[in-house]
Order: sequence, then structure tokens, then C-alpha cells
Amino acid sequence: MKQPQLSEAHHPRPQWKSRMGFILAALGSAVGLGNIWRFSYLCYKNGGGAFLVPYLIALFVVGIPLMILELGIGHRMRGSAPMTFAKVNRNWEWCGWWAVICAMFGIMLYYSTVISWCFNYVFFSFDLRWGIDANHFFFQEFLKISSGPGEIGDIISPIVLGLIGVWAFSWLIVFFGVQKGVERANKIFMPLLLVLTIVLVVLSVRLEGAMEGIKVYLTPNFDLLTKKQVWIDAFSQIFFTLSLSFGIMITYASYLPRKVNIVKDAYIISLGNCLFSFISGFAVFGTLGYMSHATGKPVSEVVSQAIGLAFVTYPQAISLMPKMFCNFFGVLFFGSLVVAGLSSAVSLIEAFSSAVIDKFHYPRKVVVSVVCIAGFFGSIIFTSQSGLFWIDIVDHFINQYGLILVGIFQCILLGWIFKLSKLREHINHAGGIVLRRWWEVCIKFVTPIVLILLFINNLQKELSSPYEGYPWEAIILIGRDWLIVALIAALFVAMRPWKRELVDQSEH
Ligand code: PFF
Repeated sequence: MKQPQLSEAHHPRPQWKSRMGFILAALGSAVGLGNIWRFSYLCYKNGGGAFLVPYLIALFVVGIPLMILELGIGHRMRGSAPMTFAKVNRNWEWCGWWAVICAMFGIMLYYSTVISWCFNYVFFSFDLRWGIDANHFFFQEFLKISSGPGEIGDIISPIVLGLIGVWAFSWLIVFFGVQKGVERANKIFMPLLLVLTIVLVVLSVRLEGAMEGIKVYLTPNFDLLTKKQVWIDAFSQIFFTLSLSFGIMITYASYLPRKVNIVKDAYIISLGNCLFSFISGFAVFGTLGYMSHATGKPVSEVVSQAIGLAFVTYPQAISLMPKMFCNFFGVLFFGSLVVAGLSSAVSLIEAFSSAVIDKFHYPRKVVVSVVCIAGFFGSIIFTSQSGLFWIDIVDHFINQYGLILVGIFQCILLGWIFKLSKLREHINHAGGIVLRRWWEVCIKFVTPIVLILLFINNLQKELSSPYEGYPWEAIILIGRDWLIVALIAALFVAMRPWKRELVDQSEH
């Protein structure tokens, strides 16, 4: 079937300078805040070492096949997500827009706020500002948390200041383009992050009692594998951690040269990201082991939920360490969170900006500047006293619904409407490891079925009781309506004409 296609003849696409530059940028997007504390916490909660079983199954059944799909289609169509979807089928362009709008005006707005918290905590580490009660400090003194999502309260100035830094820095990187900005920054970020993490792991595992914590982290409790929630957590984490479904990998692959090794790169990025999570777990649990040793409480009592783990438990552990060393340790931990977060933030802005540039053909510098200014103002709501609640609700809706829906649509569009065997041929033609038929089976059947089951399960749970006990109005307004407004905006933009001419391209 012939589809009207978009020409790129007159406008050469930016390109990565080197393959390493591309891999580092994609890894930079994947490795983020979620790798350091979310993975460790999930692992602990879901049966320690046994969690690696569903996690690895999710990685191979859904993560890697989708990574190959996104890299393959981005490379084949040479466009951002909306352009890629439009090239496959004009009626599906909205799905690409929905993905990048969710990424930019959903994830990025709160993600930048959490990076700003980390940024503040780097400075707090110098004088252990959280004092003896890190829990009270975080919720009452730093966030000045209000009574619920409905009571917005004041804007917290240190968070806004950090936010200005985060947006200005990200703006600067994306402003300079693919090679001089994104690629160059990640060539610094990623080795830096690796060094920071290795130092952190080495220091943590040498702390007294660290081995106790690591034992808790890795001791498998296979009984938990019969629980549905463990599998749901594993599949959801794989999506978020690999930055799938938001058009990021599609966009990054569109800047690749013709001859590439897509399958191998997809393996390197996916396995590298998961290995990073696994290794940073040693730092987190080594420190928790130390804390348990120093306070005489069992590890199960010192461990806490995701956000609490990074901003309450960790500062508490840092305070227990020897003088001077503790400040260094704090700067190292929060500094690595800032670096990991920034490289992911850059990818979120790039995916959206690239989509606008493709469609309307405005100059990059103008697009990026407008997007960052709008993004900064948009994220201010998350710096208010009710910010934490808003972050929690938006994050929940985007991850449980937005991400999964886009994933399902992506599988339907590319697996069933587009000829998947042609894409496999293209990937094999581009070079490297040969991609076999199992991949088609995954994309056509296994992945969408798993995602649909996840979606149904999430919806059932949602309707049975309000998420985290928040008032229904808040959930509907901040979560559901937000997704719907993003969808309407996506449909609207998709209906606007393309600035570049449409030409027929009968390659498939
Ligand atoms: N992968 C990043 C993390 O694990 O923290 C976060 C992320 C970035 C999620 C980009 C989604 C995304 F599109």
C-alpha cells in the first residue's frame, strides 16, 4: 500500500558524529533518577534477587524488542515520533504527538522539579542541613508540604532556583544541536556518572555492616514470584527505565547514518542500562546495611519507599557517617542523581523540539528556547507546597496509562498496519546482527498482549479505589483530564499541514 510520504530531500537531517556518541546519548536518556533508587527499592520490595527473574523476562520479552522497534523505525523513517508515525500512516500522526507531548509536558515538568530537589540536596550535603530529623526536614521544612493536592499554597523559592538551573542547563545543551549539544554533553555526562557511581559503590560496600544490606538486596524470595504485583512492577519499570514509548529512541535513531548495527546497539543500550541499575543497588543497600548496623535496627526497618529512600533514608545514613566523609558522600550521591537526571531531561526536550522542527520547520534555536521557557513556567506548579502530590499523580497516570497506551498503539501500528517483515529487512540490511522472526512474534503478539493485560489490571485497580487515597476530583483533574488534554492537543497539531511537501515513497 502506498502512503503519501514526507520528503527530506531539501533539508539534511542532523547526524551523530560517532556511533559511541549515539550510544552514550541513548544510555544518557535511559539511565536516570529511576535507576538509582527506584530499581533498588522495587528489587527489595519484590523478593530481592528473585525480582531479577521477572525483570529480566520483561527486559527480553518487551524491553529489547521495543527498543529494536523504536531504533529501527526511527532509522528507517528518519524522523521524530510524529514524522515517523505520519510516514507510516498519516492517520496515526497524532499518536506520535501524544507521545512527545506526554514526555515534554508530563514527565519533563515534574522530572525537572525532582532534579532541582537533588540539586538543593547537593548543597545541603555541605552542612548536613537536614539535621537529626531528615523526614521532618524534607516534608515540612524543604517541601513545606500542604494538606493535599487541592491546597496549592506558596511557591518554594529554593526549588524554583534549582529549577532555573535545570532548565537553563538543559536549554543550553539542546540549543547547540545534536552533535555540538546533546552528543558532546553526554560524552561528558556518562563517563562522569560512571566514575561517580563506581566511587559511590566502592565506598558503600566498604562501610561497616554493608554486607548485611547487600544480603537483603540479593537474597531471593521466590515465593513472591507468584504475586501479580511483582510482575506488574517489573514490566512497568522496564518501560520507564528504558525511556520507551515517548518517541525518544525513535528521534535519537533518526540521527544515525545509513549503515548501523541496530540490534547490537539496542542490546548495548538496554543491557547497559539494566546493569547500571543493578550495580547502583549495591551502593543503596550497602548504605542501608551500614545504617542498620549503626542504629541497631534491621534493614527492613530502615528501608523506605522510593522518594523517601533518596531524600529521607539516605540523608539519615549520611548523617551517621564520619565527619567530612559524610559531606563528600552526600555530594557524590546527590551529584550523581543530578547528572543522571539531566541527561534524561535533555532527551525529553530533544524529542519534543525535534518533532516541532520536523513539522513546522522553525529554526532549532527558536523552538528550543520557546519550549524551555514554556516548560520552566509549566513546572512551577510542581514547586508549590502541593507539588509532591501533583508529581505523584501525574507520574502515576503517565506511567500506568500514557506510556502503556502509546506502547500498545505503537505495536498495532507498526506490527499490523506497517509491514513488520519489511522493517526487519531494513534493520538487517543496515548491517550487524541478523534479526530473526522471534522479534516479529514479540511485536505482533507478545508485547501488545502483555501491555493490554497490564492496562486492564491498572484500570481495574484504579476504579476499585482512588490512587493513594487522593480525592477523586484531584485524580480526575490532574491525572485523567491531563492525559485527555494532551490527546486533544496531539490531535489538533496532527491536523495542521506539514511545512514540507508530501511525496510518494514506495519503499514498503
Ligand atoms: N529513563 C529515565 C529514568 O529511568 O529515570 C526516565 C525517563 C526519561 C523516562 C525519559 C521516560 C522518558 F521518556
